[in-house]
Amino acid sequence: MKAKLNQIREEAFKLLEDENCNVEEIRIKYLGKKGELTSVLRMMGQLSPEERPIMGQLANEVRAEIEAKIAEMAEANKAKELEKALVSEKIDVTAYGKEQKIGKLHPLTQVQRKMEDIFIGMGFSIAEGPEVEYDYYNFQALNIPENHPARDTQDTFYITDNILLRSQTSPVQARVMEKTQPPIRIISPGRVYRSDEVDGSHSPLFHQLEGLVVDKGITMGNLRGMLETFAKTMFGEKTKIRFRPHHFPFTEPSAEVDVSCFVCGGKGCRLCKGEGWIEILGAGMVHPNVLRTCGIDPEIYSGFAFGMGIERITMCQYGIDDMRLLYENNIKFLKQF
Ligand code: PHE
Repeated sequence: MKAKLNQIREEAFKLLEDENCNVEEIRIKYLGKKGELTSVLRMMGQLSPEERPIMGQLANEVRAEIEAKIAEMAEANKAKELEKALVSEKIDVTAYGKEQKIGKLHPLTQVQRKMEDIFIGMGFSIAEGPEVEYDYYNFQALNIPENHPARDTQDTFYITDNILLRSQTSPVQARVMEKTQPPIRIISPGRVYRSDEVDGSHSPLFHQLEGLVVDKGITMGNLRGMLETFAKTMFGEKTKIRFRPHHFPFTEPSAEVDVSCFVCGGKGCRLCKGEGWIEILGAGMVHPNVLRTCGIDPEIYSGFAFGMGIERITMCQYGIDDMRLLYENNIKFLKQF
């Protein structure tokens, strides 16, 4: 029996030497209810009364030793697992993060939204119209009959004889007036087209923002005041505006409107080409013919309209000297805005 107990101890220890042994399995095999040590102890009854306490003590020693070794191994395993977890779950706080690329709005869109905000703040709402337009709305309804010389400056792309890509946002005026009786107070931003060669200040596709106000008693003074508010909000409190006489077929009288140069304040610099003024838009009082054509009585109502290029305003705002930069989608360029 003594030999058997020693053998059990040896075997158990040998198994426990193995770093990867299954400690719980070994415990059951030797110390469990049906384990080897237990079955030896069951045989105690067969021993003589003198032998019994000696074997009992030895059995207890073996049990205690195996238990101690098991505890030691279990501890070591736990430490090993922790070590493993620490390595596999380690976070390198010095590692470079993944760059989150956040997109932003194109400078033209940014400026368009800013302009829209200013006009919405003055009570305008936004009206939209088709880019593929009838000759009628783009020209005829705006007092530009067939073969009128004003068509030359707005040559565009024709889809049929009657359908074209709109050369200006003004046809939206005609469409709105046809459907709505005054008071009217709208802006219509959008793409327009002209058959121009691409260069630093021309593109066959560009953007305009049109404005139209029609009501009783609207005067050129209202136009001036409203444009002044726009210019000050857009370009700065000190900005002044000036009107120069001009001709548009759909407004009478008509004017080209300049703002005082917001870089030099009017002294003359590179941006304003020494002028002190920068031309930003065309405007005027809606021609009675246009009101009449669109179903509004010019004896009762009057109105003003204005239109400006969003590219031009954007280039002025950001000091961009070549319009092509706005269409090339060069991320390095666009990132600056
Ligand atoms: N549509 C004109 C243009 O493209 C601008 C304009 C709009 C002028 C409204 C007067 C009134 O040149």
